[in-house]
Amino acid sequence: MKTLGKILLALCLLLAAAITFTIGWRPFIGPRARATTSRQFERTPERLARGRYLVIGLAGCESCHTPKDWKTHGAPNLPGMELAGQILPLPDLPGTIVASNLTPDPETGAAKWSDDEMARAIREGIGHDGRTIFPIMPYAAYRSTSDEDLAAMVVYIRSVAPVRNPLPPTQVAFPVKYLIRGVPQPLTSAVSGPGPQASPVERGKYLTVIGCGCHIPTDQKGPIRGLEYGGGEFLKGPWGEVTSANITPDASGIGYYDEALFIQALRTGYVKARKLSSIMPFGEFTNLNDDDLKAVFAYLRSVPPVKHRVDNSLPPTYCKLCRRKHGAGDQN
Ligand code: HEC
Repeated sequence: MKTLGKILLALCLLLAAAITFTIGWRPFIGPRARATTSRQFERTPERLARGRYLVIGLAGCESCHTPKDWKTHGAPNLPGMELAGQILPLPDLPGTIVASNLTPDPETGAAKWSDDEMARAIREGIGHDGRTIFPIMPYAAYRSTSDEDLAAMVVYIRSVAPVRNPLPPTQVAFPVKYLIRGVPQPLTSAVSGPGPQASPVERGKYLTVIGCGCHIPTDQKGPIRGLEYGGGEFLKGPWGEVTSANITPDASGIGYYDEALFIQALRTGYVKARKLSSIMPFGEFTNLNDDDLKAVFAYLRSVPPVKHRVDNSLPPTYCKLCRRKHGAGDQN
């Protein structure tokens, strides 16, 4: 009996070590989360305007939280549904993933969530009810949003018209439901954005991290090292099937762009005669001012060039760099 006990103990220790060094304990004990506070963001006209600029523009919140007409170039919002939420219309998700109704509707929306619950969800990935938010919501990218921009977003979201839109709860399939609990990371210190003296490249970096995440291809371990902004993310949904483009200054990227072409592409969804897929949120970026678009372009000019051909006009073939299929994959 004594030996059996020892063997069992050894097995338990081995299992504990295996968990510690592989998936970690978060799947069992729940996500890392900070307690919310009762802080309220003062509603000022400046914050309302800045929040609107970010939420309906650069941050792309509406790509998921507003049902859209995907058949029209630029995917305009369905009228009367701003930020009212939807079951995400994507075929390959593990379960039913619902982008929440963020409007201040008392029954089906966010009226009862506190400012800090909403703020924590956006940058730290914890829902108002304490659950781990499914990481398709890009909270890792929003993490660098400054405290002031975050407050502005919340102030704007609080101001939109309430829309009654009952939705089912998100249901993430096993085992993903448990594995995602390792993703959220609390933020406990102040986050500042680029100051008034910041260079265009620094300002551009801040904006690009928030707005252009789809161009960084990821695998199970996170962003693929060496392919940052090199494209390769496969995006399938009501807009069709498309792979995100290489936006680095390499010849296989957007090395041939000038500032005017960049601004035009981001506002209109046309690169000269070529039409971009509407999952590229140019319908939302159209409100971005020239200064910000120029700053994003300046930053993208400064990132390391990545040699990675992605061409959505060609049939998908295997690419050894990003290890998936996309147009011109066999040329890499
Ligand atoms: C790529 C899609 C996507 C984008 C872009 C996105 N979200 Fe979300 N968001 C989701 C999904 C899906 C959920 C719910 C996930 C779940 O229930 O696990 C969510 C959850 C939330 C929640 C938490 C709701 C709750 O129940 O507590 C808030 C707040 C939120 N999003 C705000 C935003 C804001 C603000 C932006 C833009 C800055 C944004 N989201 C951009 C998909 C997205």
